[in-house]
Amino acid sequence: GARTVEHAWGKPHDRTHGAKQECFMNKTEAKKEIERLRKGIEEHNHHYYVLDNPVISDAEYDKLFRKLQQLEEQFPDLVTSDSPTQRVGAKPAADLPPYKHRQSMLSLDNAMNEEEFLEFDKRVKKFLETREEIEYVAEPKWDGLSIELVYEKGIFVAGATRGDGETGEEVTQNLKTIRSIPLRLRGDNIPDLLEVRGEVLMRVADFQKLNREREKIGEPAFANPRNAAAGSIRQLDSKITASRPLDICCYGVGEVEGFHLESQWEVLEQLPRWGLKVHQEWIQLCQGPEEVLKYYRKVKGMRDSLEYETDGVVVKVNRFDQQRTLGAKERSPRWAIAYKFEPRQATTRILDILVGVGRTGALTPVALMEPVEVGGVTVSRATLHNQDEIDRKEVRIGDTVVIQRAGDVIPEVVQVILEKRPKNSKRFVIPHRCPECGSEAERPEDEAISRCVNISCPAQVKERIRHYASRDALDIEGLGEKHVEQLYEEGFIKDIADIYELKEKKLVELDRMAEKSAQNLLDAIEKSKQAPFDRFLFALGIRHVGEHVARVLARRFSRIEELYDVTEEEFQKIREIGPEVANSIVHFFGQRENRKLMERLLKLGVELVSQKQAEKKGIAGKTFVFTGSLNRWSRREAEELVESLGGHAASSVSKKTDYVVAGGEVGSKLEKAKKLGVQVLSEEDFSKLVR
Ligand code: IVH
Repeated sequence: GARTVEHAWGKPHDRTHGAKQECFMNKTEAKKEIERLRKGIEEHNHHYYVLDNPVISDAEYDKLFRKLQQLEEQFPDLVTSDSPTQRVGAKPAADLPPYKHRQSMLSLDNAMNEEEFLEFDKRVKKFLETREEIEYVAEPKWDGLSIELVYEKGIFVAGATRGDGETGEEVTQNLKTIRSIPLRLRGDNIPDLLEVRGEVLMRVADFQKLNREREKIGEPAFANPRNAAAGSIRQLDSKITASRPLDICCYGVGEVEGFHLESQWEVLEQLPRWGLKVHQEWIQLCQGPEEVLKYYRKVKGMRDSLEYETDGVVVKVNRFDQQRTLGAKERSPRWAIAYKFEPRQATTRILDILVGVGRTGALTPVALMEPVEVGGVTVSRATLHNQDEIDRKEVRIGDTVVIQRAGDVIPEVVQVILEKRPKNSKRFVIPHRCPECGSEAERPEDEAISRCVNISCPAQVKERIRHYASRDALDIEGLGEKHVEQLYEEGFIKDIADIYELKEKKLVELDRMAEKSAQNLLDAIEKSKQAPFDRFLFALGIRHVGEHVARVLARRFSRIEELYDVTEEEFQKIREIGPEVANSIVHFFGQRENRKLMERLLKLGVELVSQKQAEKKGIAGKTFVFTGSLNRWSRREAEELVESLGGHAASSVSKKTDYVVAGGEVGSKLEKAKKLGVQVLSEEDFSKLVR
C-alpha cells in the first residue's frame, strides 16, 4: 500500500484542532510526544530549507509547531537547546564571547588569472614530486561570512565566526535561527565530534528585498549580500538574526572524531547525509588543471544567474594524504587556492541623472554614467533608488563614484569620491510631477518612494507589459522594451490581455518588423499561453509578489479564481506571507478591472498550469526504480517521496517501469533500463520532477 511521508514523521494527532487546546498528558507521555514532534518538525525543515522541497503544507507544519510550543510551555523542564522552538531567537546577549577554534581557520591565496592558477598547479605537482595530474575539487567561492559549526554526538552545541583564524566570536544562538542549519545531525554513523565549516549567505533576491524594507523604515541599506549576512550574524539580539533571510553553504570540516574521511570529495558527499547543506550541483571533481579551467569558465558564465554571490572558485587538492604532505605556510594552505572573478566594483563618472517610472508608478532616479566594466559586463546605468539614498550618499551629476553590481541586478552607486567633485555642482532633487505623464507624484509619509498617481500613466502600462513578457515571468521572446514601446505607441496593446489579440498583419505594418520576426513573436506569444501558475502570478506584477512569493502561492492554490476571495488574515496564515504582501494581493484581486483582465486572459486561451498538476503529471501513477546512491535522499526516503506524490516505487526494472533514477555508480539496472528503452533520470532530473 501507499506509505506516506507524513506518517513516518508524525502527523498532528486528531485532537490537535484549535491552537489553544489544552492536552492532558503525564510527563512521560509528553516527553515522548515532544520527541516525536521535534523529529517531525526538523525533518520538514530539512525538506523545506535544505532540499528546497517541502512535503507537507504550511498549515500542517504550523500545527505541528504550535503543538510542540504548547507542550513545552506546559512542561518547561523538557525544553532542550536543540528543540526547533529554540530557532526563534533568545534573550539578547551582553557580548559575543570569544571562541577558540580547535583547528585554526585558514584563509586562501588568490589567483587573479589563468597563468597564476596554472602556476599553483605546477607548485602542487612539484611539492608532491609527481608528474601525474592532480585530482582537484572545484567549488564556488561563496561570498558571505565564514563560520564554524560544532556538533557533539550529533547535537549542535556551538558556532563561531572565523575571527582572526585562531579565535572567533561565539554566535551559537544566532546560528540556531538559520533553518538550514540542523540542530541535530540526521542519518547514520554520527561522529562523536564534527566541526563543519561553511559560509553564511544571503540570496541576492532576499538581500534586495531586505534593503527595500529597510529603506521604508529609514534604516540604512546594506552595501552587499556579504555585509548583510555578516551584520546579521554578529548581533547581540538573536531575534534580529531570526528576522533575516540567512542561509548556509558548507564546504569543509575541521576536527572530526569517530568518523574517517579521506578526501575533500568524501566530505562534500558525507555532509549532506548528515543533513548539512552543500550545493552539490555546483561542485565538481576535476582531473588536472584543464578540467578546472573548464569549470571556472562555466561558473563564471553562470555567475549572474546564481542565487548567491560568488567571487571566484576555490580549487582544492582532493586527497587528504596529499593535503597533509603539502601543509600550510603561515595563514594559507598550499593545497588550495581561490581563483577569483573580476571584481564587482568599479569607478566611473555620472553624466546625468534621469527619473524613470516603474510598473507601480515608482519614480526611480537612474544615473547615466561613462561606460565601465564591472564583473565582466559593461554598464552605463546605475540605480540611485530614491531621494533619501541620493541625499544620504550625496550623489550629484558630474560626480566620480564607486559602483557595484550583485547578481544580475542593476548596478548601484556605493559611494561618491568627494575629492573629485566638480565645482558648482548642485544637489539633485526628484521632480514632484511624473516625468512621463505630468501627473502628480505622491510620497506616502512612511515610504521612501514617490509614485505617479495615474494608473493609466503610459510609462506604468508599458512597464507592466514588459514585466509580464520578461524572461523570469512569461518569457515571451521578442517582446522586449523596444517592441512594447512600439506596440503601445501604435495603440496595439494597452494591457497584457491585448498581447493575445495581436495579429500578424498589424505587426508587419510596424516599421522594422519583418514577416519572419512577426511570426516568431506570435509563436512565442502562443507558447506563453501554457503558463506555469507561479510564473503567471509573478508576471502580473502585483506589488510585493516576487518570484518567491509567487511560488509560495502557487504551491497553495491551483487556479487564479481561488485567490479572489481569500482574506488578508487567511493569506497571512501561509508561512512567508506577511501583512504587507497579504494586503497587496487582496487589494489587487479586489479591483474589478483586474478580475476582468484575468477573465479576458483566460478567454483568450491563457491556460494556467498549476504546480500541483505539473507535479502529479510527472509522478502520479508512474513506476520508479532507483539505482545507485542518491545524495539528497536515502533510497527509502526517495521511495517514500514518490509514493507520497501518488507514484509507485519498484525494486527491479521491467517493461512496466516508467523511470529509472540513477545515482552515482552505474549498475545492472541501468543497463537493463537502456535495453528496455526506459527513461533514465539523473538525481538532478528527479529532483526537478518532484519539485
Ligand atoms: S575553503 C583552508 N571553500 O573564502 C580552506 N572557503 O579566503 C579555507 N570561502 O574564509 C576555506 N567559499 O570564508 C573554502 N568553497 C569554499 C569557500 C570558501 C567561500 C571563503 C571562506 C574563507 C575564505 C578564504
